[in-house]
Amino acid sequence: MGFHTFDAGRADALEDRSRFRYCSAEELLGAAALAGDDTVVDIGSGTGFYTDVLAGVASEVYAVDVQPAMAAYYREKGVPDPVSLLSADADRLPLAAGAADVAVSTMTYHELPDDALDELARVVRPGGRLVVVDWTAAGEGEDGPPLAERFDAWTTGAAVDAAGFSVRRAESRRETFLLTAVR
Ligand SMILES: C[S@@+](CC[C@H](N)C(=O)[O-])C[C@H]1O[C@@H](n2cnc3c(N)ncnc32)[C@H](O)[C@@H]1O
Repeated sequence: MGFHTFDAGRADALEDRSRFRYCSAEELLGAAALAGDDTVVDIGSGTGFYTDVLAGVASEVYAVDVQPAMAAYYREKGVPDPVSLLSADADRLPLAAGAADVAVSTMTYHELPDDALDELARVVRPGGRLVVVDWTAAGEGEDGPPLAERFDAWTTGAAVDAAGFSVRRAESRRETFLLTAVR
């Protein structure tokens, strides 16, 4: 974790719908097992590309990003009703303990500070869920960050377990991994 932060000057690239080939909307919603009354935290929400998917189902979504320029882009694009933008670092969330039913993070885990998982364990209620999708170190590097800046499903799963979650799924695909866990 802790690798370089995605350049907000390249925010347009995050809105490229071909990104769904790495994680589709259906796949994300299925992994999160969202119900209509869920409160979701999207960590490293960027331009809201995947946040919008979550907002189509959840009752409340906190879109957390450390770069105000990303929030500004999302505001300009149009923020759906259930979404609240939070400018914050993933290791210091302005949310109460147990405030979230589900935490989701897409293509961001490798950028997060080391203690972000501990903070997510504080914010996700007992029995709540965590979904992490990110570029895998076992991939080929055809897109996304360099292989040296990536993690894989197994090392991420070990870190997630150590933070107080129980891993339920850990799948490695061609360029990405998908992990689900329960608090
Ligand atoms: C590669 S982008 C992915 C954005 C979005 N999740 C998506 O898949 O479209 C990573 C995002 O994480 C944000 N980020 C990086 N470090 C962060 C941190 N410590 N706390 C919150 N957000 C962070 C960056 O500003 C950037 O918007």
